[in-house]
Amino acid sequence: MCGIVGYIGPEEALPVLMNGLKRLEYRGYDSAGVATIDGGLTIGKKVGKVTELEKLIAANPPGGTIGIGHTRWATHGEPNDINAHPHTDQFGEIALIHNGIIENYATIKKTLESDGYTFRTQTDTEVLVQLIRAFYDKGNSLERAFRLALKSVVGTYGVAMISTIEPDRIYAARNGSPLAIGIGDGEYILASDASAIVQHTRHVTYLTDGEMAILERDKYTTKTIDDIPVTKEIEEITFDIGELEKGGYEHFMLKEIFEQPDTIRNAMRGRLQRDESTVRLGGLRTVTEKLRDARRIIIVACGTSWHSALVGEYMFEQLAGIPTEVEYASEFRYRDPVIFKDDLVIAISQSGETADTLAALREAKRRGATAIGIVNVVGSTIARETEAGVYAHAGPEIGVASTKAFTSQLMVLALMTVKLARMRRMGAAEGAQILKAFEELPAKIEETLAHAEQVRAIAHTYAGARNFLYLGRGYNFPVALEGALKLKEISYIHAEGYPAAEMKHGPIALIDENMPVVFVAPDDDIYEKVISNIQEVRARSGRVIAIATEGDERIESLAEHVIYVPRTLPFLAPILNVLPLQLLSYYIAVERGCNVDQPRNLAKSVTVE
Ligand code: M6R
Repeated sequence: MCGIVGYIGPEEALPVLMNGLKRLEYRGYDSAGVATIDGGLTIGKKVGKVTELEKLIAANPPGGTIGIGHTRWATHGEPNDINAHPHTDQFGEIALIHNGIIENYATIKKTLESDGYTFRTQTDTEVLVQLIRAFYDKGNSLERAFRLALKSVVGTYGVAMISTIEPDRIYAARNGSPLAIGIGDGEYILASDASAIVQHTRHVTYLTDGEMAILERDKYTTKTIDDIPVTKEIEEITFDIGELEKGGYEHFMLKEIFEQPDTIRNAMRGRLQRDESTVRLGGLRTVTEKLRDARRIIIVACGTSWHSALVGEYMFEQLAGIPTEVEYASEFRYRDPVIFKDDLVIAISQSGETADTLAALREAKRRGATAIGIVNVVGSTIARETEAGVYAHAGPEIGVASTKAFTSQLMVLALMTVKLARMRRMGAAEGAQILKAFEELPAKIEETLAHAEQVRAIAHTYAGARNFLYLGRGYNFPVALEGALKLKEISYIHAEGYPAAEMKHGPIALIDENMPVVFVAPDDDIYEKVISNIQEVRARSGRVIAIATEGDERIESLAEHVIYVPRTLPFLAPILNVLPLQLLSYYIAVERGCNVDQPRNLAKSVTVE
């Protein structure tokens, strides 16, 4: 949700900024802009993708060795050239970029207008930069004006500011929106996440809420916005630049789908404790007793991560016998949830920055629960704010539609389930059997992905459909939800996921000869029930696409298309069953000419509530 980048050092800033913006474009792509200082302040900004900005400034590139850049996901003010960041004060001396929302911008704007400040845009960000100006005009230093303005606003921000008043400084601050500082050799790179930094340095430090940084040519300073010095830990970026490239694939999403044999291996690596038929999760060591004694698990998450949470609910209840509830993070904090001290709250998030999930996590902590995280992005806010946690280790996920992070989350949930179950009621023999099934998964994922051409052909047949239904039961109901979400997100086809048996309570009215219905129908203990649901759809001329277990020949007479998936334990089946659904949505979106990696209106990391 908006990407921020800044550079100060010996090199020309522009190439660093543009490169950073391309890396961060997945965070928002409504408009892009840069500001540099080379004597005066030069600004280039343009509605649309970073390539549009590139075209705009090609003839006259802004020069200088200090600059900031922004890629926008619009909140206040429609996406157009004027509302694009950076925004400036009315004298054109201060340029500011912002990720977040200033909630009290309207009141501040009114006061500033009555004091004679004039505005050109509809954005909350322009209000912030003008407020900094107003404090500066009252005789404060630029730094103090920056701090005073930030203390006056209500809302969230990750901001970066440069000014001709102090041409060799970048000011940055965070409250709710991530900011990382790359510490290079004589240079500093500021960014919303490490993907824009790794090319320059592996050394990074992350600002936390209420902190600010001043980057100068020969040093950087960190403090709170109340002017109290803060010493920050320097961390190492763990991924490689190659992981941020498409690696020969047409889209990041396709690359990420095909990475899943490896990402599942990575999620398991070093965690299977074969001698004791259990799982070792180093990140949970400090909460072992709390895990053993927890009377209830509450999982908070959004979107795809919420779907993996639903699978987790089935896993924890069925195998570990722990009552589990799954909450939309966005609802959780506003409904006065009842939390007990022996509740275990798990926040699941790919990015580790989702504002709703973070807010739910903080609420759970405030109410005394033990809060742990299942997060993909190392060093992200949720990872740092949880008492303990398990990384998904899926590597950077660039495609806005989550794929490999979903299956890695499922894998981590399965690992946690075994850990909890073995501490409570699962015998060693069952533990050993599950570990064996874990180890077989990567090969089975490869086998499933080998059906890509068949899925592509099915996609070709249905690319013109206006609606889709996805149905599944038990562990595979969340898979149906996830399949529908993937299709909606990237192909803009209306799709609904439903528990298969619920279909007869309403959605069945939608079924006719134009309705493709995707059944997730593995050969498990509710197989017969799902077969009955398939019959009900066929009886109404619906077109059935089935995801079925290898060897199930019976389903061929019932479904128009069958995509086979290898057999595994029922609680691991979602990891395999979702793969054809990811491919189906991908190929349909490609067929429809959609922008697969950057679907309209979406952003990878949703850092506003
Ligand atoms: O980073 P998170 O896992 O917290 O993100 C949650 C959702 O915003 C995310 O899963 C979203 O639904 C994706 N676009 C799904 O493909």
